[in-house]
Amino acid sequence: LVEAQVEKSPVAPDYNKLQQIIDEAYKLFENDSAGAPADYIPELARVEPDLFGISVVTVDGRVFSAGHVEHCFSIQSISKVFTLAMVMEQLGQQAILEKLGAEPTGLPFNSVTAIEQQATRVGNPLVNAGAIATTSLLEGKSAAAKWKNILAFYSACAGEELELLKDIYESEAATNARNQAIARLLDAYGVMYDDPEKAVDVYTRQCSVGITTKQLAAMGATLAAGGINPFTGVEVMNAENIPQILSIMLSCGMYDYSGTWSYLTGLPAKSGVGGGIVAVVPGKGAIAAFSPRLDGAGNSIRAQKAIAYISQQLNINIF
Ligand code: DON
Repeated sequence: LVEAQVEKSPVAPDYNKLQQIIDEAYKLFENDSAGAPADYIPELARVEPDLFGISVVTVDGRVFSAGHVEHCFSIQSISKVFTLAMVMEQLGQQAILEKLGAEPTGLPFNSVTAIEQQATRVGNPLVNAGAIATTSLLEGKSAAAKWKNILAFYSACAGEELELLKDIYESEAATNARNQAIARLLDAYGVMYDDPEKAVDVYTRQCSVGITTKQLAAMGATLAAGGINPFTGVEVMNAENIPQILSIMLSCGMYDYSGTWSYLTGLPAKSGVGGGIVAVVPGKGAIAAFSPRLDGAGNSIRAQKAIAYISQQLNINIF
């Protein structure tokens, strides 16, 4: 029996090889200066564009890194995945489908046209309209209570205390007229579930949470590990909801580039205009990368290239 078990057990992963591949990815794209940092949020335009970091966290809590992994950047749209997880936990999977939808828009992340065209108006929880609606659905007596719960949940997913980047929050709050307009339009269509101004404020705070690539990879690894944080061992989300969350990430997580991303990597991922991207490898771990220069869809160029390279070298396409 013991022999049979040994035979069946998977080959131990080669961790030296993994570190070597991460180092290769860093070197390959270190001098790639294509794209430009987001500038519609003034504080983001001031971030040092040459920063570049990569971290992998496995479901058993091992960490592998290269580059500027200590730098704390704003999580931005990657937050949308984790607020979705909270609302799915509270309201169930069916409510997500009915109230928010799960269709990619094929349009930019802050599109108003998509609201006019899509049956659910909000499209899916990972574009701005859908994410603001998701935040508006969160249970909580006040905006302050919702925000407190969000920060606590994100921290539990990272396995470390996270904080708001005040400069980013203030800069975005002072310039987010478009998101306010989106929230009001959703309200007019009857798909805003809290005061639109309050929902946008909580959403803007959640986007301004500061994170390192290691913390981001840990958040992704929590999804990969059935909702259990690999550092603390705490079960932070219901494993039953994770296939639905990852499915929405695969179809909508990289905005109007999601189809090509899925074709190239076969990995559910989410990007943010702060320059971060996290890709989840179910049952194994997560790869996070950060670099501020973005492409036209709002996805970090070097982060995409690094994650695609690592996933191809490791042959971890889920299909
Ligand atoms: O609402 C916004 O525009 C930003 N706080 C987040 C957008 C974002 O990260 C899109 N990502 N690629």
